[in-house]
Amino acid sequence: MTTYDSENDVTRGERAVVVVPERVGEGSRRSTEARLEEAEGLAGAIGVDVVASKAFRLRQIRPATLLGKGQVEEIADIAKENDARLLIVDAPLSPVQQKSLEEEVGAKVVDRTSLILEIFGERAATAEGRLQVELAHLDYQAGRLVRTWTHLERQRGGFGFLGGPGETQIEADRRLIRDRMARIRRELEQVKRTRALHRGRRQRAPWPVIALVGYTNAGKSTLFNTLTGDGVLAEDMLFATLDPTMRNIRIPGFDKAILSDTVGFVSDLPTELIAAFRATLEEVASADLLVHVRDMAHPDRDAQAADVEDVLASLGLEEGAGPPRFEAWNKVDLLDEEERQALLAEAERREDVVPISALSGWGVDHLRERIAQTLQQGTEIHQVRLDAADGSRLAWLHSRGEVLEQRVAGDALEVSVRLSADNWARFQAMEAA
Ligand code: GTP
Repeated sequence: MTTYDSENDVTRGERAVVVVPERVGEGSRRSTEARLEEAEGLAGAIGVDVVASKAFRLRQIRPATLLGKGQVEEIADIAKENDARLLIVDAPLSPVQQKSLEEEVGAKVVDRTSLILEIFGERAATAEGRLQVELAHLDYQAGRLVRTWTHLERQRGGFGFLGGPGETQIEADRRLIRDRMARIRRELEQVKRTRALHRGRRQRAPWPVIALVGYTNAGKSTLFNTLTGDGVLAEDMLFATLDPTMRNIRIPGFDKAILSDTVGFVSDLPTELIAAFRATLEEVASADLLVHVRDMAHPDRDAQAADVEDVLASLGLEEGAGPPRFEAWNKVDLLDEEERQALLAEAERREDVVPISALSGWGVDHLRERIAQTLQQGTEIHQVRLDAADGSRLAWLHSRGEVLEQRVAGDALEVSVRLSADNWARFQAMEAA
């Protein structure tokens, strides 16, 4: 669900041509083929029907249209031949470039920034994420006002009349956007306050959170479904309403754990989208464990992993900081025998890797065990004495840790429990209170 009004609203199923401009001489971490595939994937994510795609090498930038004259003509032909009225350009475009391209190609043009905005808008699961996306979108629109004012007026149901005498339409629209951005910033403040409360509450809630991160198309959602099963129990409904991307997951040794799916990472994220993107990742920083899902059958798997690490680092979660993490090496079913054996041997040598096929379920039990192990790391066994009537403390220990033994000793209950250092500190604080 998008909460913003998009000037680029595209119809699902619309026929689209995807174009990847590549600058000559500019080193890129990824191949042309991979960039094309990714751009097609992103276009697919907003539900359009990609009927043709092509990469174009830019020897020289033509300011008016980014692409060269001959290239634009070729694109116009491709669009015409395929009866496509939508052109997706995998690069950020200035408003002028967008407009000129639209005229010369005879199709609606969507650039990379607005494509990604569209995807974030659909996937932002939290209130903060949605507001950040809306803010980024308004910002994007404000930059394009010259061209879109009539459109804006239509969108806002003719709010143009708000302008006083002498105020031009563009000024009125600008004011409208400014006001709306100010309102969203206030709402964001409110949401942040609520979130801090909510986090505080969740820290006291008795279950660990495991976040799946990874490059777009790595297989996070597939793994999410395999790990959680599709039978969502009634008790999970609470989370379903809070956040559709969080679900209960069974982990050996834990009463309950929550699995959280995040939006896929992409390379070259336009800067104005970084705040929006981070907000969609807010769960990641507070998770108890990160599982980095990687598509090991992808030719650019190392560049993708480096991109994901960069984004995590920008969230303050560089290697060694933040929650513990390991990698799930996915799609091993797609590798040929030789490659698979080599990969499995490497995974065997490494502590921080579990090979899986999220699709077939191969290795997923092993992954579950690894999750349990990692969550238990740094835990210690403590002997605790409780008032036998104190059901709530006992329930707390059961849900936070692994109760190994409990004995009744007169009025007291002696419990042997495995707890993380954090939880042990929390328990002691509770005892002191
Ligand atoms: P985003 O939502 O873009 O971030 O993607 P994602 O990481 O959630 O990927 P998703 O689960 O949607 O999977 C992408 C594609 O890979 C789908 O077509 C899956 O069926 C396929 N896929 C996922 N896991 C596996 C696997 O283990 N083996 C094979 N062969 N295909 C897989």
